Amino acid sequence: MTDPVTIIAHISDPHLDGSERALARTRRVMTFLRGCAVDAILVSGDLADHGSTDEYERVKAEFVADVPVFLLPGNHDDRDPYRKVLLGTTGTAPINQVHRVGGVTLALCDSSIPGRPDGLLAPETLDWLRDVLAAATEPVLVALHHHPIPLDNPLVDGIGLRNPGDLAAVLGAAPSAVAVLCGHAHAAAAGSFAGLPLVAAPGIISTTRLPWTTTDELTWSNVADLDDVPGVVFHVLQDGRLTSHFRTV
Ligand SMILES: [Fe+2]
Ligand SMILES: [Fe+2]
Repeated sequence: MTDPVTIIAHISDPHLDGSERALARTRRVMTFLRGCAVDAILVSGDLADHGSTDEYERVKAEFVADVPVFLLPGNHDDRDPYRKVLLGTTGTAPINQVHRVGGVTLALCDSSIPGRPDGLLAPETLDWLRDVLAAATEPVLVALHHHPIPLDNPLVDGIGLRNPGDLAAVLGAAPSAVAVLCGHAHAAAAGSFAGLPLVAAPGIISTTRLPWTTTDELTWSNVADLDDVPGVVFHVLQDGRLTSHFRTV
């Protein structure tokens, strides 16, 4: 007998800054997803662009669906206004959350470092994740904003997760973990990390150019392709097996 299928739609990096462009791209993706039969939607960080209360009001208004929408903070987010508007709490501690959907547990780890573009899983986050994984009775998808492996773009790789070894040590001791999901790179990509599949969701706001796709030297002013269409990853879980489907919108 096979387990029921659980489908998670994974999107990332809307950077809702008040511009029409960001709003239109987010609405395009969310309109598409509201017409899809998925169990949940995951948005893996950089929800806001400057972390203002106004931006989180917009996040709250746009990321609405008939299924749960799970939100992760990224380096463009600010924990206190994020908490006030989206969670109804206050404080600057890491925003770690665990959710169950279908036959899956989602462990959402806050990898942001206040005021910095790169990422770090704080000791309290690693301890929390260790406990979540140990207590899980079903497969766990571990999500964080920052990529824990190089993604072949020197600029983006300079602002990845600073302590991937700490995360690998926690995952390596936990048979319940089935995959690691991230955003931040604005690039749909798949790899492996700590013996698990690693999937990065495309960016809603832009797509990073890869070095071998252009003769230009990549800099922060030209690395973002603003014309590429936004995309979605559908993670399908059944019988402890993950399949990830990439689609543009
Ligand atoms: Fe981003
Ligand atoms: Fe980011």
